[in-house]
Amino acid sequence: AVERTLSIIKPDAVAKNIIGEIYSRFERAGLKIVAARMMHLSREQAEAFYAVHKARPFFKDLVDFMISGPVMVQVLEGENAVAKHRDIMGATDPKQAEAGTIRADFADSIDENAVHGSDAVETAQQEVNFFFGPDEICPRTR
Ligand code: CMP
Repeated sequence: AVERTLSIIKPDAVAKNIIGEIYSRFERAGLKIVAARMMHLSREQAEAFYAVHKARPFFKDLVDFMISGPVMVQVLEGENAVAKHRDIMGATDPKQAEAGTIRADFADSIDENAVHGSDAVETAQQEVNFFFGPDEICPRTR
């Protein structure tokens, strides 16, 4: 089925100037960018986005990192988009990520791991709605 998923290019990857390189990987995989915004998250926004991790020991470091610089946030649309995006990203820990994935190629650590992607169709809907209103998403008709 055609799905949508939320992608974030994190501050480390923005700083490395590889937004286009990462976008090219999405496009080569058949994922279409249907919404995008560069933003510098506030602490409140980052805490709210990652609320599910609030009790985890890495929460504070995660939030500090995510507000350390601008991020590029986008909605990707395509057949099986959630799983396809996760395949392209590779494992959360770059040491575990398969060769040729974004995290294997560009991530420095499990904390500074270049990209975020929704982990399931249901969370994808929540994460897309966190950042974008319906009028900000541009479905592809051709
Ligand atoms: P992300 O997909 O953005 O979701 C939460 C982030 O927390 C994750 O990527 C990692 O960058 C970070 N993180 C740090 N330590 C861990 C851990 N032990 N397990 C999962 N995520 C972690």
